[in-house]
Amino acid sequence: MKGYTTQEVPSFYATQSYFVGLSLGLWMGVVYACTYKTALPSKKADTFATPTHFGNLYNIPADNPMHPEAVALGRMLFYEPLLSGDTTLSCASCHEQARAFTDGQAFSRGIKGHLSDRSAMSLVNLLWNNSFFWDGRAKSLETQALVPIQNPREMGLSIQDAALRLQATALYPPLFRKAFGSRQIRPEHILKALAQFERTLISANSRYDQIVRGEVQASERELRAINLFMTHPVPEANLRGGNCGDCHGSHLTTLHTFHDNGLEAQPQDEGRALVTGQAYDKGKMRAPSLRNIALTAPYMHDGRFKTLREVLDHYNEHIQASPNLDPLIMEATNEPEGQSLALTEEEKEDILLFLHLLTDSTFIQDPRFSNPFVAPNRP
Ligand code: HEC
Ligand code: HEC
Repeated sequence: MKGYTTQEVPSFYATQSYFVGLSLGLWMGVVYACTYKTALPSKKADTFATPTHFGNLYNIPADNPMHPEAVALGRMLFYEPLLSGDTTLSCASCHEQARAFTDGQAFSRGIKGHLSDRSAMSLVNLLWNNSFFWDGRAKSLETQALVPIQNPREMGLSIQDAALRLQATALYPPLFRKAFGSRQIRPEHILKALAQFERTLISANSRYDQIVRGEVQASERELRAINLFMTHPVPEANLRGGNCGDCHGSHLTTLHTFHDNGLEAQPQDEGRALVTGQAYDKGKMRAPSLRNIALTAPYMHDGRFKTLREVLDHYNEHIQASPNLDPLIMEATNEPEGQSLALTEEEKEDILLFLHLLTDSTFIQDPRFSNPFVAPNRP
């Protein structure tokens, strides 16, 4: 990834202290000595570049360190229709690169024409997430990947059958051996490879990133738009704000927190409460990253808004007083004693401009993320 400063981190040590790494290394040496007849993946320290301005708080599980062979395998599996019951769908059917890994639909179509309950999410900068799905019910990418494969309304195949199918090909057993040390394909390795590929889906080259890194000079209007998006309004102090950064803050444009953003007076989808069982979580969803948001319409967990303009109109004048409506939204207004956000038309246009600054055309064209089964990549 050229064009911006990155920190090169040996992936294994990224979440481990050197001490743990060292003792584990010794252990692995012992294990290796005991199993020297089995071919193992190369032991060189693999490096993995992440954009400096996203920070170090990312998640690589200690039992699934990044390995280039596994990433390459994960990319193939992501585009592999053998992973669906009737071999018509792959992950990429609902997560298309050109649409920043969404499908352009309010609800996605699984096998046999089934419709999903929610809108497909963009797959971006997942390395920094600590939960997955709109309601955060998956704790890791490894556990997440199992869900669409086995869901009868999505890909509809048991993970054991998936492993058997891949085992029966000429293509896959050698690739699993290179990535995980054995030709015997284990369900766990399918999920690990998919997770590793997904961790490489980093979008950090939008105009916004170029501005942050000082590579391009922001116009006055762009700076105004960035500030407006990030600022919580305080009318008494004459401080105007769009209030978006309260939940979509940081360079990742998400704080990974759960909120009810006032879509419905009585939320149809229980959201976070399905995970926690708590009444106060009813209707809350994870505030998603807004990166590449101009490419991922329609919007919200049920795709109710077709345009970003409609999204802004919602936050500005159509907030519903739901039981768990977020206080950060309830008390956000640009007018003393105001009842709504009360942005001017010009300010709405500025926030739209900000949202468009988040489009990263290199991400959606990056050959490392594209379908490996079409020319010129075909194995
Ligand atoms: C039939 C369409 C469909 C298919 C096929 C599909 N997904 Fe999804 N994906 C979705 C939907 C819908 C959601 C949101 C579901 C929810 O929140 O309940 C989602 C959410 C996700 C998320 C969560 C992202 C986040 O930010 O939390 C990840 C990761 C993901 N999918 C990866 C995959 C992988 C890997 C595969 C293949 C094994 C796959 N998906 C196959 C529709 C699909
Ligand atoms: C109190 C927290 C909060 C604030 C403040 C907030 N959002 Fe959101 N936003 C959310 C949550 C939660 C969702 C997902 C809701 C759902 O789908 O049910 C969301 C969804 C969105 C989406 C749709 C994302 C997608 O992938 O479909 C957009 C666009 C968006 N917000 C933009 C904004 C903008 C612009 C502002 C400022 C005007 C803003 N948000 C303020 C919490 C917030």
